[in-house]
Amino acid sequence: MLRILTGNLFIALRFCPSDTMDKFQYAHEHADEIVWMSQNTNHIPLSPKIEEAILEAIRSREYNLYPYSKGVDGLPEAILKDLDLGGGWDVIVTNGGIEALYILNRALLSEGDEVIATDPSFMPIHHQIRLSGANPVELPIYKEPWKMTPEAIRAAITPKTKMILLIDPINPVGTAYTRGEVKEICEIAREHDLYIIDDITYRDFSPDHTLTSEFYPEKSIIVYSFSKTSAFAGMRIGALIAPKELMEKMRPYNTNVLSVNILAQRGALASLETKGEWLDRMLKTAMRSQEIVKEAVDEEGGAFIPVFPSRTNMLIIDISALGIDGDELEHRMLYGDGVFIRGGSYLSPRFGKNFIRVSFTVPNDGAERFKESFVKQIAAMGK
Ligand SMILES: Cc1ncc(COP(=O)(O)O)c(C=O)c1O
Repeated sequence: MLRILTGNLFIALRFCPSDTMDKFQYAHEHADEIVWMSQNTNHIPLSPKIEEAILEAIRSREYNLYPYSKGVDGLPEAILKDLDLGGGWDVIVTNGGIEALYILNRALLSEGDEVIATDPSFMPIHHQIRLSGANPVELPIYKEPWKMTPEAIRAAITPKTKMILLIDPINPVGTAYTRGEVKEICEIAREHDLYIIDDITYRDFSPDHTLTSEFYPEKSIIVYSFSKTSAFAGMRIGALIAPKELMEKMRPYNTNVLSVNILAQRGALASLETKGEWLDRMLKTAMRSQEIVKEAVDEEGGAFIPVFPSRTNMLIIDISALGIDGDELEHRMLYGDGVFIRGGSYLSPRFGKNFIRVSFTVPNDGAERFKESFVKQIAAMGK
């Protein structure tokens, strides 16, 4: 029945001349039925202990108080322990990694500065860079080796360069930097006295991930998120991590002197305390879902996945050979089958037409629904 209804709605909207309904509004209104593969959120159950910690904070009405401004007892320490960082490092708990990025960009960038970044990328960071008066210098990575190379970084450096934005592993492409590459990028940064933003939002999906802090602690700023591994996107919690001295430069820009949501902090702490109990299982489920997505692409036959397996919880599918529009495919899969993926234009004005992005931290039956929908809708588009 549901399928029939969503199918009808799809037809209604498809033939509506102005598609005014926001896809996100539709998806949120139907959240219970949607396989959410559009925002790299995590839908794999982790541990009841995390939910219990949140419920306990509600029962005890801990929310009546402003939380302790440094973060609830044990949380900053648990974040540093998760990264194996010692006492020279400081943590500001933030409303997601996105706010950590905002704080650091506003604090460290000035008019005319340049930040070496990529295209495709997670573009909201580039917006923040521009807001700070600086300019992102977007190195094209929609080609082998699907990431920045030390050579390309060197070639892009000018007297105005202030910072390197290292998203590792990379949203959306799914590539990760090797230890050798991280070391070399750190050496370049040191040579030119640049900051490195080490955005490690997807770190847990990347085996052998290397932090820039290992080679270049003095000017590494780490952006940490609970959204993807701990499945906390809706909780809005993350952290800014930097060496103590550098943190003092950024602290005046911290908008959370009253701290961040206490329920999110309690859940985040519990997620770190129990991580050893659920991480491997979650990663195995995600890997199987990733394989199912690949099976769909293989079955369809005309598209390809540039980076497989992905080192993040998403991959991109190059659809350029099919001659179809990714946004239309997104529309059809959402309204026709309740499967929410993302057309690439959001991630790259330049290359976005070539690909769609699909996140796979969903239970395996959700990935099976993707498979069915992907093959069916591309066939329906006449390809
Ligand atoms: C590379 C990157 N950095 C930061 C973020 C923001 O994450 P958060 O939910 O922690 O704000 C995202 C979210 O998708 C991301 O992809």
